[in-house]
Amino acid sequence: MARRKLVYEGKAKILYEGPEPGTLVQYFKDDATAFNAEKRDVIDGKGVLNNRLSEFFMTGLGNIGVPTHFIRRINMREQLIRAVEIIPLEVVVRNVAAGSISKRLGIDEGTALPRPIVEFYFKDDALGDPLVSEEHAIAFGWASQQDLDDMISLALRVNDFMSGLMMGVGIKLVDFKIEIGRIWDGDYMRLIVADEISPDSCRLWDMETGQKFDKDVFRRDLGNLADAYTEVARRLGVMPTNA
Ligand code: C5P
Repeated sequence: MARRKLVYEGKAKILYEGPEPGTLVQYFKDDATAFNAEKRDVIDGKGVLNNRLSEFFMTGLGNIGVPTHFIRRINMREQLIRAVEIIPLEVVVRNVAAGSISKRLGIDEGTALPRPIVEFYFKDDALGDPLVSEEHAIAFGWASQQDLDDMISLALRVNDFMSGLMMGVGIKLVDFKIEIGRIWDGDYMRLIVADEISPDSCRLWDMETGQKFDKDVFRRDLGNLADAYTEVARRLGVMPTNA
């Protein structure tokens, strides 16, 4: 079969040229990486679960008026998305201390934060995606003050939506990462949620037991990653499909 033109290959996804200008096909791989790809494995079925879950979250966000890159799912592993110019900042929202904020600031994992905290990390694998301030982002031209304000507002809307959705199925949204891109309608530029939203980029804890259903299962060798993601999908009523 003739293969589409490859545009970009990342650690967990591949982007191909889409059927129409301004579109891309996003392919979800089974590869799992952590610690800037120092730890890696192939987890059967992860790509299928993340494709389906990202479709579910992005569709829900679209329904409440949060713009995303998602157009439609094509098959088990691929979805059609709008091409965007990715802003080189990962946006992390935290509700509960875990991971790098616990390490950096000495806050016990599981401590509820007084308010959601939004952080920016410069997207650069060679540097290990360092935490940066708004000052850095503006001074180095990665984003304008207006962009940053809009990114925070988008990230907090995603947080409200995702927290509510997860709480409804007994899961605490501890933190998550999103990526945001620019699209133009003529001269008019706006920011939309891009990349993926999946258990690869969230921390999800069972509200009763604290059991982890996210990539920490892989990072910390806590069990079977596909089983953890399947449990999230099952609770949300999102069935992986063979279509
Ligand atoms: O490692 P850290 O605690 O800063 O991660 C915060 C959140 O962002 C976690 O949910 C993690 O999975 C996600 N993240 C990510 N991609 C990165 C860094 C963090 O999805 N490159």
